[in-house]
This record gives sequence, C-alpha cells and structure tokens, in this order.
Amino acid sequence: MDDVAELRAKHLAAIAAAADEAALEEVRLAAIGKKGEVALALRGLGAMSPEERQVAGPALNALRDEIASALAAAKAALSDAALSARLAAEWLDVSLPPRPAAQGTIHPISQVMDEMAAIFADLGFAVAEGPQVEDDWHNFDALNIVPEHPARQEHDTFYMARADGDNRPPHVLRTHTSPVQIRALQGQGVPIRVIAPGRVYRADYDQTHTPMFHQLEGLAIDRDVTMANLKWTLEEFCRAMFEVDGVELKFRASHFPFTEPSAEVDIRCSWKDGQLKIGEGDDWLEILGSGMVHPKVLAAAGVDPGQWQGFAFGLGVDRIAMLKYGIPDLRAFFDSDLRWLRHYGFAALDVPTLQGGISR
Ligand code: DAH
Repeated sequence: MDDVAELRAKHLAAIAAAADEAALEEVRLAAIGKKGEVALALRGLGAMSPEERQVAGPALNALRDEIASALAAAKAALSDAALSARLAAEWLDVSLPPRPAAQGTIHPISQVMDEMAAIFADLGFAVAEGPQVEDDWHNFDALNIVPEHPARQEHDTFYMARADGDNRPPHVLRTHTSPVQIRALQGQGVPIRVIAPGRVYRADYDQTHTPMFHQLEGLAIDRDVTMANLKWTLEEFCRAMFEVDGVELKFRASHFPFTEPSAEVDIRCSWKDGQLKIGEGDDWLEILGSGMVHPKVLAAAGVDPGQWQGFAFGLGVDRIAMLKYGIPDLRAFFDSDLRWLRHYGFAALDVPTLQGGISR
C-alpha cells in the first residue's frame, strides 16, 4: 500500500506544480492515461492474491478518481487565473477624457451652427431638416412666392434637369431654408418651435457671395405668438451669440412674400481700425430677415391661420461666422486650404454649450 501513497504524493504534487494546461495534460497521461502509472497498477491487480486485490483495488480506484478530480480542479483554477490576467491586462478607464485629436479641426461654419443650435435649444427650439434638392412648390409656391413673383428671379435659382417629356416644374436646389418651415409644419403640426440650419444654393459668385452658403431658419407658431416674442427671441439670441449684454437691434420695415409684417434686423456695431465691435458705436449691420408668418403660408402647410400665428426669421450663418470670428473673405470658407482651416478651425472637443461657453 506504500506504492499507492507514493503514487498519490507524486502525481498530486505534479498537478500542483503544473503551470499550464499542457503540463496538466502530461500529468494526466503519466498518471491515469492508458499507459499511466495508476492505470498500469490497476492492470496489475489480476496478478495479485484475492486478499491483496481486496485492499489494493479500492485504493487504486479511489486514487484514480482523486487524481481525475484534482486535474479538473487545477484546470478550472488555471482558466480562472488566465481570465483574471486578461481582465487585468485589458482594463480600461472609460471615464477618462479621450486624447485630443492631433489633426483636424471643426470648420467655423459647423462651429457657429452648433453654437446657434445650443442657444436656440435653450429657448425651446428643436432642429428640423429638409432636402437640399427641393420641389418648386415647397421652395416657392407654399411660401407665397407665386410664379410671376420677382423673387423667383432674385433668387438666381439652380434648376435640376428634367427627364424628356416630363412637364412638371423642375426641382430646384433650395434657394433658402424657408421651405423647411412648410415641411416642419406638415410633419409636426402646431404648436411648433424649430430652427432649420443648412445649405442653400444660388447662382452667384463674388467676394460676398458663393453658389452654396448656409442659412438658419427659425419658426415659432402658437395661438398668441407676436412680434414682441420675435423681438425678445432675437435679442436673446444675439446676446448669447456675440456675448455682449448691451446688444441693440433695429427692426426695419421690409418685405418678404412669406411674412406680413416683415422686418429686417440690424445690429448696432462699430468699425474701428478694421475691427468690428458688436453692441457699441454708430454703425448698423444687417443680420437677418424676419416677420409674422403670412396666413397664406400657414394655410399652404395645412394650419388654420384663424387659430394659429407666429414668427419666422432667416439668417446667414456664414456672415455671422465672419462677423464673430473676424474672417474677412467668404470664399475662403470653401477653399479647403489646410493652413486656413488650422488657423480658423476649432478643437474637435470644444463643443459649444451655454454652460461651458458659446464662444472660444
Ligand atoms: N428666406 C429669406 C431669404 O433667403 C430669408 C428670410 C426672411 C427668412 C424673412 C424668413 C423670414 O423666415 O421671415 O432671403
């Protein structure tokens, strides 16, 4: 029986010393594999006397079982250890701030649109979108711009090609973001408060005009929205956008087919040594068009003008970006000049918020 004790001590020690699954497999083969020592000892039982066999048989069987379960336990422990080691090695603190992107910047137009969205979100405006290839009805008719209206020429519209034999009015590249008013009203109904930032297109090119530029449309319709609400909203917006408390706006009577009454809005500013300052001085700079939405526009969008009213406004995003960040030439926005982008671009993680700061 000393043999059994010896075998037991030897193989259990080997199991304890095994560093990996391959080593465990070697122990298994050497102990209880077909040609293992315990298996051979079991085979030797036949040559024993019945008395010897009665003692050695159960002892060897018990040893084989003990080694098998020691092997299984060691194997489980090894794979636990391997998993723990992997978890420790692959550990990552997901709450750490990401490394700043070394290359690439946010374009000033994107930055300014994000700033505007943050300010208007705080005033309860959601963001609405519409297609850049727009149909004639949404871009013009629904906005009370009838076919013979001079505004259709003034807009220097890009028309899409029509298929042969198609006599419907051609689609256009939208000339302003105002058609999103119609789409938002049709899609969401009233009451509504939305802004619609996006690209617009007109066939025009000089120092202050590019064939593609950006507008931001605003629309607020409820039962009792008035010009006073429009004025307050735009003043709040300008105060937050230009970060001057003393902003002063001038509402100049104007005409747009889709608003009645209509007003163009100028902001008080000064030009000193080529430097623009908002909120002081004796100059006025036009920044947007606005007015009370025309009853015909509401009706075209399926809203009862006897029950609902409100304001709309449209501003040029590029122009405000130029004013705010002192960018002199509009065309540079679209040149994709890397040196310009590095100079005027914004860090990717400088997301504008009212809390963290709108301007940089
Ligand atoms: N759609 C006009 C344009 O592109 C801008 C505009 C003026 C929009 C007055 C409005 C508005 O919503 O009320 O010239």
